[in-house]
Amino acid sequence: MAGQTTTATTLFLLMSMILMIILLLDFSYVCHADPDPVDDICIADLSTGQRFANGYPCKPASQVTADDLVSDVLAKEGNTSNVFGSFTTHGTVVKFPGLNTMGMSMNRVDFAPGGINAPHTHPRASELVIVVRGTLFIGIITADNKYFSKVVKKGEMFIVPRGLMHFQCNIGKGKAQTYAAFNSQLPGGISVPKSLFRSTPSIPDGLLSKVFQLDEATVRASKAKLVNI
Ligand SMILES: *[C@@H]1O[C@H](CO)[C@@H](O)[C@H](O)[C@H]1NC(C)=O
Repeated sequence: MAGQTTTATTLFLLMSMILMIILLLDFSYVCHADPDPVDDICIADLSTGQRFANGYPCKPASQVTADDLVSDVLAKEGNTSNVFGSFTTHGTVVKFPGLNTMGMSMNRVDFAPGGINAPHTHPRASELVIVVRGTLFIGIITADNKYFSKVVKKGEMFIVPRGLMHFQCNIGKGKAQTYAAFNSQLPGGISVPKSLFRSTPSIPDGLLSKVFQLDEATVRASKAKLVNI
């Protein structure tokens, strides 16, 4: 009887260990934001309107040219004449089809003096940003509400772990500019002011009034001012 119990305990421990190993192995996949590619080149054919789990359908290999591997989508300075004084130009798969199945993309952010890239998150990617012009004050807030902030100068980089709330503000005298790399071909961007105050259709004023403890007239005024964001 005692021998049977020992065997059962040993078996239980062995099963637990196997389960733990399986779980640990599984966690290693969490590093990948997008699935791995299965082809050398899979230039997105955006014209089909179809989306698969691993991105867009591929343009036929026979039709791929060197031009498919190059994009000037981030070459131009963004127009920062808006309420926030910043503009994000997206270099994702939607604008640069060559990124399809590559698991990466890049944005450019231009800032007027005092410009702010409003608090936002990227649900599908971590971010690596390099400041190529000016000086920024950056903030990152973790899921357990810890706030990190820092002044980041030209030539310096900073990271934003996947999904975390973050913002940047140009604190230099002139313009500022960054390039941001993502480990997803389409990282997504959820801007706090845009999501909550400029959704389609609009979130009820009364609800936002209660959430932010502001009177409804202030909520309405805020919504009216946050146009074209
Ligand atoms: C920038 O945007 C503003 C506001 O929409 C517009 O009036 C202006 O003409 C734009 N400037 C350029 C250079 O496109």
